[in-house]
This record gives sequence, structure tokens and C-alpha cells, in this order.
Amino acid sequence: MSGQPLLEVRGLDKRFAGRSGRDTALWVIKDLSFSVPDGEFLTIIGPSGSGKTTLLNMIAQIDVANGGEVRFQSKSAPINDPKSLNPGLNCQIGYVTQEDNLLPWRTTLQNVLFPLEVQGRLDAEGRARADMLMRTVGLAGFEGHYPHELSGGMRKRASLIRTLVYDPPVILMDEPFGALDAQTRAQLQEDLLRLWNLGRKTIVFVTHDITEAIALGDRTLVLSRAPAKIVGDHPITIPRPRDIRGIMTHPDFAALYQRIREQVQ
Ligand SMILES: Nc1ncnc2c1ncn2[C@@H]1O[C@H](COP(=O)(O)OP(=O)(O)OP(=O)(O)O)[C@@H](O)[C@H]1O
Ligand SMILES: [Mg+2]
Repeated sequence: MSGQPLLEVRGLDKRFAGRSGRDTALWVIKDLSFSVPDGEFLTIIGPSGSGKTTLLNMIAQIDVANGGEVRFQSKSAPINDPKSLNPGLNCQIGYVTQEDNLLPWRTTLQNVLFPLEVQGRLDAEGRARADMLMRTVGLAGFEGHYPHELSGGMRKRASLIRTLVYDPPVILMDEPFGALDAQTRAQLQEDLLRLWNLGRKTIVFVTHDITEAIALGDRTLVLSRAPAKIVGDHPITIPRPRDIRGIMTHPDFAALYQRIREQVQ
């Protein structure tokens, strides 16, 4: 990749039409720029309504930008032309949304295998990978359970590995652990770092939680209220492997937390 960022956002603009016509269009993102090198774990923090989900949707080509550029592997997404979008960029971009979106009529294993099936890649290697991932996150023994028979944390794990199973080079994550209790959340953060360490994919992880942003990220971007712009860019200097549950006791933590907190309005 020789110095080229894997993912690049340049001067990005996005507006949504207001209810009463064009004049009241809401600018959610205006002139937003940042880049993500291959293998980086980037965390993004920003107030509710600042356009974080909208940003991820544009990176995944689920939604279209009105101006600027979104580049992945040096190729630009279409601008102002929703019909030319290529959602998920042929499975190059994985997306773990806030809701787990498991299919209720499929077992846990069938859910995890689903993307491979859709892509016509369900072979012995894929099954072995699914099996390894299920074991890594403690879902061994629950292959035949349906989503309604799993706890909230288990459903999150299943939805996480359903994205990891097809091994996309970039994974977008939109507050994936938001609705969980503190214990389950810490456990999932540990699982995620363990899984990330297996392949060091590029991750863009959106969260409301400053501690989570620091604990997971190589770098944390802070977004302003809409129209979103970057008000902070913090390299996270805490070395890996990290002690997720004890992260607050690391000597660099307090100063980082304080600086980010001042920028999160
Ligand atoms: N499809 C849409 N049509 C019109 N307005 C939208 C649409 N999607 C989002 N918005 C508006 O854009 C703004 C940003 O929404 P977005 O969901 O990106 O925020 P967010 O930062 O993800 O918030 P949260 O942290 O609460 O998830 C909000 O004001 C929202 O109402
Ligand atoms: Mg959101």
C-alpha cells in the first residue's frame, strides 16, 4: 500500500432534504476530511446526531455523498448519484450495525455462515473459520440455538463474527456494544481486540464512550455537532496488548480522557 491510506475522506458534504422542501436542507456533514491507513483501529466519538452513522453509511456506499470524496483503495465512491453506489463494495467493507440484525429463523451457525453462502464461498475453509471464530468468542455449543435463545451479548458476538467470517479488509462498527451491561461490554471489547489481533484489519469504530474509544483505538477522532467536523485527532499511546478492564489505571489514560472530554460537546 506504500504510504497510500486505505480509506480516505476528503471535503465530504452530506445534506438531507428538510421536510418542507429544499430551503430547509439539513447539512449533517460539511467539509469533513480524514484518512485511515491499512491496519489501523480508528475510533470515532461524537455527540448524538453529529452524523456518525451517516458517515459510515457513505463509506459503505449505502448512502451517497453530496460533495467531496470517499476513496477506498484509491477508488472514489460516486457522488450525488445513488444509482451508481456499490453497497459494501463487493464485500470489501464489512459493517456491524448498532442492531445485531440476526435472521431469527436461522440458527447461530447458519447466521454466521450466511455471508459466505450469499457470496458463494461456503466451503470447508469457510466452515472451519466460522468454527474457530465461534470458539474464540465462547459460542461453541450454541451453534444450533436460534437468536431468541441467546443472550444480548451472545447475539452481539454472533453478529460480530458474522462480519469477520468473510474477512473484509475494512470493518465499520456503529456502537456495536452500546446497549450492553458493563461486564458484557468489557468481555466483548476483549474478544474484539483478540480477534483484531489475528488479522489486524482496518477498523472504523463509532462510540459514545470515551473510555471505549481509548481502550480500543490506535487513534481517536472527535466529531463536533452537525454539521460534523473533526475537532480532535488523538493518537492513543497506550501500548498493546491492553488491559481493557484496567485501562483507567494506565498513566496516559487520565490526560487523554480529559483532552477528549473537553472536545466532546
Ligand atoms: N435518511 C435521513 N433523512 C433525513 N435526515 C436524516 C437521515 N438520516 C439521518 N438524518 C439526520 O442526520 C443527522 C445525523 O444522523 P446520524 O444518524 O448520522 O447521527 P449519529 O451521529 O449517528 O447519532 P447517534 O449517536 O444518535 O447514533 C440527524 O439529525 C438525523 O436526523
Ligand atoms: Mg448513529
